[in-house]
Amino acid sequence: MVNKNKKILVTCALPYANGPIHIGHLLEHIQADIWVRYHRMQGKNVLFICADDSHGTAVMLKAKLMNISPEALIKVIFKKHVKDLLNFNISYDNYSHTHSKENLYYVQKIFLTLKNKGYIKEKNISQLYDSSEKMFLPDRLVKGTCSKCFMIDQYGDHCENCGSVYNAKDLIKPKSQISGTTPILKDSVHFFLNLSMFEKKLKVWINSGVLDKNVKNKVIEWFKTGLKLWDISRDSPYFGFNIPGYINKYFYVWLDAPICYISTFQNLCTKNQNINFKEFWESTHTTSLYHFIGKDIIYFHSIFWPAILEGINFRKPTKIFVHGYVTLNNTKMSKSKNKLIKASTWLKFFDSDSLRYYFASKSSPSIKDIEFNLQDFINRINSDIVNKIVNLASRCSSFINNNFNGFLGNKLLDLNLYSLFLNKNKKISKMFKYRKYSSIVYTIVKYADRSNNYINNKRPWDLCKDDKYNVKIQLICTMGINLFRFLITWLKPIMPDLSRRVEKFLNIKLSWMNLNYPLLNHKISKFQHLYERINDCSDKIFL
Ligand code: MSP
Ligand code: ZN
Repeated sequence: MVNKNKKILVTCALPYANGPIHIGHLLEHIQADIWVRYHRMQGKNVLFICADDSHGTAVMLKAKLMNISPEALIKVIFKKHVKDLLNFNISYDNYSHTHSKENLYYVQKIFLTLKNKGYIKEKNISQLYDSSEKMFLPDRLVKGTCSKCFMIDQYGDHCENCGSVYNAKDLIKPKSQISGTTPILKDSVHFFLNLSMFEKKLKVWINSGVLDKNVKNKVIEWFKTGLKLWDISRDSPYFGFNIPGYINKYFYVWLDAPICYISTFQNLCTKNQNINFKEFWESTHTTSLYHFIGKDIIYFHSIFWPAILEGINFRKPTKIFVHGYVTLNNTKMSKSKNKLIKASTWLKFFDSDSLRYYFASKSSPSIKDIEFNLQDFINRINSDIVNKIVNLASRCSSFINNNFNGFLGNKLLDLNLYSLFLNKNKKISKMFKYRKYSSIVYTIVKYADRSNNYINNKRPWDLCKDDKYNVKIQLICTMGINLFRFLITWLKPIMPDLSRRVEKFLNIKLSWMNLNYPLLNHKISKFQHLYERINDCSDKIFL
């Protein structure tokens, strides 16, 4: 539950700077943005931040492949990410990146604090090393035969055939995925965060309602086997921040990424002096902190990140909202390489509101995957938005504009029906709070059907045959427009572009509060196209 008076900080996970934003990423940004927009509509003080995850091996190798520096690559990607997110109306107050000076400051400071407090251990380890490329190989860059089931061509962390999890060193006949050569074993000193020192406190926190039940159960499983040492360092060559005092050692990308939540916020404080850093991050905080993340990064956010925060005596998250994957043919979108819909490609065929609506219609507060189906998407938009919702406004406003000079009538014909809608307000509010977006969409469509039925039964077009200026026609359509106002107000956090056009058309600001007062004796604008029917683009969108 959100405490009414508390200021709220909301984050999304940082997209990697090694590729474009695709609609899999967008699910998260859209789910969070709907939540943020809803709370802002309720007058809450919400800050919403995110950043690019600029560091790590993947970015380094991608830059090498493109024959540019990683710095140059992350600059180009940053611009594209910002543009894509803006085009989908994700209303960030600040969007930064992990390669910033603020992040460098916090990463170093936090590392030293953890080290001085005795939470960091130094240990010599041996790892697979590609001698021709002169680099240690991360798990994803080495493949070999599984030592349990002998399946060939398995990655260094786990076997996709038998599911066993192992160390890359255990692979039979390992091969570097960069050079194709056989790696050797090589020693080096690494830094580890001693997670077991936080076990007791983390358990209390996990049990304090910060996670939904199914996610919590998963996290509790990890405690059963005991928390391990967490390697937070990487050897050169690596694209990241240098560990102070150690040549050729870098902070692991997953150390500086969550810390970027703090540094992006600090950067926002510099831009807006009214925001108080301490209020949000000190252990004596008076605010709430919500993270939206995908189910693949639960461990990082429910164990690793709160351990860091505990270690530096900062506040821990209020809640972590976890979603499932957007899938195509039941495969996680980012993995189905040739079938990936980029944010920028989407906008060549459809508008951003349509994706926001489609995802909302399939979103619940669970970690169930969401299958994207193009035909289902097209049917939904045309049937719900065009045929039901926008059509209601279009048919009512034509009478109002043509016969009554754009003026709505002076009273409500059916007070009961208006009250029925008004009474739904609280329920819809609750559904937003608890992220039950599919239930919201279901309710909106049901109420759109109700509204259209009302008009169908009253048949204003019949009355028009006798006297086109009959006040009854005006009152029937006034009801219709008032019901339409409910639908779009409820849709406002989901479809910001459509609701902006409706605000212009109705000459009002759509707000929850205003719904208490019916729209009467009020002049509306000429009806302009609020939403275009969408066409099938078959498979062109996947290119
Ligand atoms: N950089 C890390 C996050 C660091 S947060 C301190 C990362 N990046 S990512 O680009 O791989 O993913 C960013 C977010 O997008 C994650 O929450 C991830 O779950 C989500 N998604 C990436 N592909 C997705 C789908 N196909 N479907 C739904 N969410 C997806 O992880
Ligand atoms: Zn196996």
